[in-house]
Parts: sequence; C-alpha cells; structure tokens
Amino acid sequence: MAADQPLPHRPDPTPPAEARPWVISEVPPERTRALRRRVLGGGRRGRYLDDAGPDGAHFGAFDGAGRLLGSAAVHPEPCPGDGATGTDDLWRLRAMAVEPEWRGRGLGKELVRAALAHAEPRGATGLWCHALESARGFYLALGFVDAGEPFAPPGAALHRTMFRRTVFRRVSAVRPG
Ligand SMILES: CC(C)(COP(=O)(O)OP(=O)(O)OC[C@H]1O[C@@H](n2cnc3c(N)ncnc32)[C@H](O)[C@@H]1OP(=O)(O)O)[C@@H](O)C(=O)NCCC(=O)NCCS
Repeated sequence: MAADQPLPHRPDPTPPAEARPWVISEVPPERTRALRRRVLGGGRRGRYLDDAGPDGAHFGAFDGAGRLLGSAAVHPEPCPGDGATGTDDLWRLRAMAVEPEWRGRGLGKELVRAALAHAEPRGATGLWCHALESARGFYLALGFVDAGEPFAPPGAALHRTMFRRTVFRRVSAVRPG
C-alpha cells in the first residue's frame, strides 16, 4: 500500500473516544523513562530516547488511576531512508512502548495518532521510524512502508526504516526551458 493512502479500512479495535479506558497526554520524558527502559531496553538507549528537542514531544497513556500504560515520542529529524522520502518533512517517531497486558487494544495506534497530531501542525508531512522487525506488522497495519533494507545496529536486533506520509508533498516543479 502506498504511504500516502489513508489508514486501511478494516474493523478498528480502538474503542470509541467516550469508552476508551485511557487518556493520552504530553508528558516530560522522565515520566515514561522507566516504561521505555523496561520495554525497549535501558542504558544509553534509554537516555538517548529522552531528548525530543525543543519542538518534539513525549506522550504517555494513562488509565483512570493514573498508571502509565504506554509511551511515544516524536521530533523533527530527516528520514535516512532510501531516497524515496528525501524531500519530505517526515518527523521521527520513537519510544513506542505499550505495557504487555494492554497490547492489541488500539493503544499503540492512538499513541501514533497523538504523535502525528503534534507533528503535522508544526510542518510534518508524515512520520518515520526505525522499526524493530518484531513490530513491523504494527507499522504496516498503520500504513507505514519500508524504506531501504533491514539493518542490525551493533548488538541490537534487526530494524527497518519505515515511513508513512500523511500529507501530499508540494513539489515545486522546475520546467525546462
Ligand atoms: C508495537 C506496540 C507498540 C503495538 O502496540 P499495541 O497497542 O499492541 O498496538 P495496537 O493494538 O494499536 O495495534 C494496531 C494494529 O497493529 C497490529 N499489530 C500490533 N502489533 C503487531 C505486531 N507485533 N505484529 C503485527 N501486527 C501488529 C494490530 O493487530 C492492529 O491491527 P488492526 O488495526 O488491523 O487491527 C506494542 O506491541 C509494544 O509495545 N511492543 C514492544 C515494544 C516495541 O516493539 N515497540 C516498537 C519499537 S520500533
């Protein structure tokens, strides 16, 4: 599926807004650090993920008792891809983590939506990420496509760069002669 097409039309498991058992809000990075380290790995990687820069944001999903259920972060950073994304203002999606017992209920998708809702008004034309191979199906379900070949950073699992364009590019065509 092309990256600039709408989300696939399949039954959406996400409960309607009034029935959702979670609230997603922007949070300081420290608020989601423990979850990120537990689900995604700790050490230097955890600290690296803290920095969303001045324009980026971290998001947390919370249940009615204020317990953290999931996290996401987004910031402006060019997509390294394979050239297919070269002229896009795609923002980088990171820190995607949902507590195991909360997975498969649409929360990850809602966290991506929150990241996009932050990025698009600031000029993003979509999102990209370095997806863990094990999470590739999640990103495919959200309309992301592969950019380039899979790669394995030293000591880390197999990743793929993936992206999803949400806004059509405005290409300023230069006409010859
Ligand atoms: C990946 C992760 C964030 C997904 O969160 P989630 O809340 O379970 O995802 P959702 O329930 O919103 O799923 C959205 C869609 O993706 C699909 N999906 C979710 N995880 C999937 C997976 N691992 N493989 C294939 N499809 C998957 C769902 O079936 C759903 O599809 P649908 O809309 O067609 O029904 C979560 O599984 C997680 O935290 N995993 C461990 C950490 C991780 O891998 N993070 C990503 C790092 S790149």
